[in-house]
Amino acid sequence: MMSSEVFVPGWLQQLLVVLLRFALSCAAPVNLTNGMECGARGPASYILVFTGHWSPQTFPKQYPLFRPPAQWSKLMAVIHNEQYQLWQEGASASDGMKSFAEQGLTVDLVKDAKEARKRRTVGSMYRTAGIPSGIGHSSTELLLTPRTPLLSLIVKVIPSPDWFVGVDSLNLCEGGKWKQEVTFDLHPFDAGTDSGFTFSSPNFPTTPPENITMITSQKPNHPANSFYYPRLTELPPLATIWVKRQGAVRQQNRLSNHILPDTTKLNRFSETPLDCEVSMWSSWGLCLRPCSRGGLRHRTRYILLKPANSGTPCPELEEQEECTPHNCLAYQ
Ligand SMILES: *[C@@H]1O[C@H](CO)[C@@H](O)[C@H](O)[C@H]1NC(C)=O
Ligand SMILES: *[C@@H]1O[C@H](CO)[C@@H](O)[C@H](O)[C@H]1NC(C)=O
Repeated sequence: MMSSEVFVPGWLQQLLVVLLRFALSCAAPVNLTNGMECGARGPASYILVFTGHWSPQTFPKQYPLFRPPAQWSKLMAVIHNEQYQLWQEGASASDGMKSFAEQGLTVDLVKDAKEARKRRTVGSMYRTAGIPSGIGHSSTELLLTPRTPLLSLIVKVIPSPDWFVGVDSLNLCEGGKWKQEVTFDLHPFDAGTDSGFTFSSPNFPTTPPENITMITSQKPNHPANSFYYPRLTELPPLATIWVKRQGAVRQQNRLSNHILPDTTKLNRFSETPLDCEVSMWSSWGLCLRPCSRGGLRHRTRYILLKPANSGTPCPELEEQEECTPHNCLAYQ
């Protein structure tokens, strides 16, 4: 409908659209462009609250305490229609997503979104400040229009190779009405561009890049992975988002603490038991003691991962067995 007819002045185009809208709103509901467009009359204002639940109790394994401690990047949210995609599970990450997931940079994503805004597939975009710890809130207001009823957002897990949490094309309009409130649990995703296994892995580019995949308690299936908890069927949510529609009156639109979700919700996740992990046994040491008494030799192993939250305790770290000293064999 809004294709680039260069010779129609903008004001005339807008007037025509307004007249068309008016005519249509008087008639029975008709699909304006396609089935995806929201049938709501006007725009809607929302408050978006992002809450991090990344605590050492729920995620004890390799929980980053120093340089840098566990934290969240700035949140980037884009309001768009179905012709734009910020990210998608199973698809490859754009260059903008790669630099966001690896370094928390938004420059390229903002550039892409501005281009998309010219094509009218993006309505608006928002950024919030980062959160300097694993647990905490950040929030922003959102303005959605019937043309752009979808919300996508991303927040980088810091530190991490290329991991993020996010929402892909959440439709806030349903059955011709704006939704009042939506809560969504967020789980970690791997952007597929860096092969690091742990929060603090050094940079290790994946070539060729893989597609975006969800990280679960069992996948990637490797004990070294920071989110690998073979005892859990699924990971507790790493974060949640809460999107609430604001009333028509928007005078007091400053965020204050009392509108934040109940903070007791922050603690609704139980502790995750972490089992002890030990290394392989070392090779046997020398067989010692005089020949007359028979020899003894030792081997050791060490702790790879300390148990936490009532996980399985560590097994013996040292073992000994009887042996025949070499020098005794030589003189028999
Ligand atoms: C609008 O589109 C949807 C999905 O494409 C379709 O099911 C519905 O019948 C359409 N409504 C009208 C009034 O054409
Ligand atoms: C990766 O994503 C691209 C599109 O982004 C798709 O064409 C391709 O089939 C995907 N590959 C796999 C293995 O899923």
